[in-house]
Amino acid sequence: MLHRRKSGEEKEKEYMFTPDSSTTPLFGSSESNHILPRETINDNAINPNIAYQLISDEMMHDGNPRYNLCTFVQTYMEPEAKQVMVDAIATNAIDKAEYPQTTEVEKRCVSIISDLWNAPKDEEYMGTSTVGSSEACMLGGMAMKFRWRKRAQALGIDINAKKPNLIVSSGFQVVWEKFCVYWDVELRELPMKSLEELYLDPKAAVAACDEYTIGIVPIMGITYTGTFDDIVALDKAVEEYNKTAKISVPIHVDAASGG
Ligand SMILES: Cc1ncc(COP(=O)(O)O)c(C=O)c1O
Repeated sequence: MLHRRKSGEEKEKEYMFTPDSSTTPLFGSSESNHILPRETINDNAINPNIAYQLISDEMMHDGNPRYNLCTFVQTYMEPEAKQVMVDAIATNAIDKAEYPQTTEVEKRCVSIISDLWNAPKDEEYMGTSTVGSSEACMLGGMAMKFRWRKRAQALGIDINAKKPNLIVSSGFQVVWEKFCVYWDVELRELPMKSLEELYLDPKAAVAACDEYTIGIVPIMGITYTGTFDDIVALDKAVEEYNKTAKISVPIHVDAASGG
């Protein structure tokens, strides 16, 4: 006996009126016989477990932190740490008045980090949580720019004569380029010298400074190699430079992955 092939419309109706049940195998569902739209919302609801499976299968092709240490993401995290994140999903952490206990925990984290970094006890440290290191770099960059502008004005430097600049090695993470574009700062990119010396050369960094330099950014965890810039050597060179400079230059350590 010959069967007539079902039309697309008939298949669609069948799909709409054949509900899945809890016993429907994941890959035998009515949805699996239906091409879901990619760029628009589907007309019919689909089971959450199927929606989850589709998305997580698609993400499978992205880098897996357990396989690849170069992604700079956490390679492993205890399930409890993930649970804390899920628990906090409904918290608007920016609203310090509405979520005072979250704010308190944030303050303790800032304190722990300042202690780990040996912040001088007699100084009032400042810190905040951010959504990743890119936001942290943006905040650090803005602080450097505004601080430079205030000090330059006080010293009688014409702040409009030239763009302010930021010094970093060519191993920088893309966020620094974004910062410079968004905040109209010249990115003074210094090449890394050779395959053996894939880091910021302190002497070259200081030689690139002028009255318009808002700061130097050494990196702890250079994106391409994972190596650390020599912060101590850079600090020494910058201190020497600052002794005679018209306007002193600060260092901002991008410790996104190695801090
Ligand atoms: C050195 C460095 N700076 C900044 C960033 C940006 O961090 P995020 O991706 O968390 O915004 C990264 C991330 O790869 C990094 O390795």
